[in-house]
Amino acid sequence: MPNGIFYMKGRSIMNKKRLAILIIGVVLFLILVIGLVLHFVPNSDDKKVGAFVNDTEKPTLNGVQDLTFDGKTDLDFYSHLQMSDNSNEKLDITVTGDYDLTVNGEYNLLYVLKDASGNTEEQEFVLTVDIEKGNPTKKVSYKTVTPKGYTLEVIDGIAYIEGHIIVNKSYSIPKDYNPGKMVYLEKSQMVLPEVVDPFKQLVSDSSQLGLNIYNATCYRSYGFQNTLYTNYIKRDGKEAAETYSARPGYSEHHTGLAIDVNSVSNAFAGTPESVWLNDNCHRYGFIIRYPKGKEDITGYQYEPWHLRYVGEELAAKLYNNGDWITMEEYFGFTSDYNK
Ligand code: DAL
Ligand code: ZN
Repeated sequence: MPNGIFYMKGRSIMNKKRLAILIIGVVLFLILVIGLVLHFVPNSDDKKVGAFVNDTEKPTLNGVQDLTFDGKTDLDFYSHLQMSDNSNEKLDITVTGDYDLTVNGEYNLLYVLKDASGNTEEQEFVLTVDIEKGNPTKKVSYKTVTPKGYTLEVIDGIAYIEGHIIVNKSYSIPKDYNPGKMVYLEKSQMVLPEVVDPFKQLVSDSSQLGLNIYNATCYRSYGFQNTLYTNYIKRDGKEAAETYSARPGYSEHHTGLAIDVNSVSNAFAGTPESVWLNDNCHRYGFIIRYPKGKEDITGYQYEPWHLRYVGEELAAKLYNNGDWITMEEYFGFTSDYNK
């Protein structure tokens, strides 16, 4: 057993040596790691230098080219551009300058590209609007008979059937069309005089029933419609915007005979006011101009808030027990920008 004891002691000594070497090794390794970390992590002074870096370099804008809008395909201002920034800041690009997508011409516009530090790159380009049809400045005159047998007469660019002015995607009115002397309804909104009393009566009768009907937008000039339309295109794209917004020169609001009531929002549909209007506005000479289910005929989504004054006689014919017939169906004409 003594040998055994010696052996055991020897092993014990060897283990201590190994342990010491291991500890020294670990300590050296830790010193090395800490040294490396201290070397590569920036000290507080470095951080301060970083915080005060002042980016004065403009972002870069490449790919700018002149554009053409033909009225058939969407106008895309941005997807062909390449934008970058030296310090990878967030970039914001806008187009500035006036243009009108319904009037042929060349418009000098500007891209303005800004980084988060306010450095701005600007580049000019020309937008050419070249649409074959739909120039509302054209004042043609002609007469035709619709498939329903009604005479549609266009006089100096303005279409009429049986004395009713026709404005939709097929029939524009000239840019400078002036409906004549208008009067103020509520909230500084103008309409033609014949609209005032029927609308006031409608408001008064419906209020007896506890309903609150009031006018929002009425007359809209060509310029105002242009602003609305171009903003909607920027927001939602042309295809979507054209389901609810007329091009300037193609809006009934330009006639002084249209009234948007209450809330121009899909949420208005189904409200007691909307239900009552659908069943009663004809008694005052108004029609629901863009009825539900007639989107393919009018070219517009259901607009329960948009009333058009046509007089009681025609309104009664279009009412159809609340399942409204459109002017397009009744008289037999289209609503299509390409026809
Ligand atoms: N919302 C209708 C269609 C217009 O813009 O005249
Ligand atoms: Zn409207």
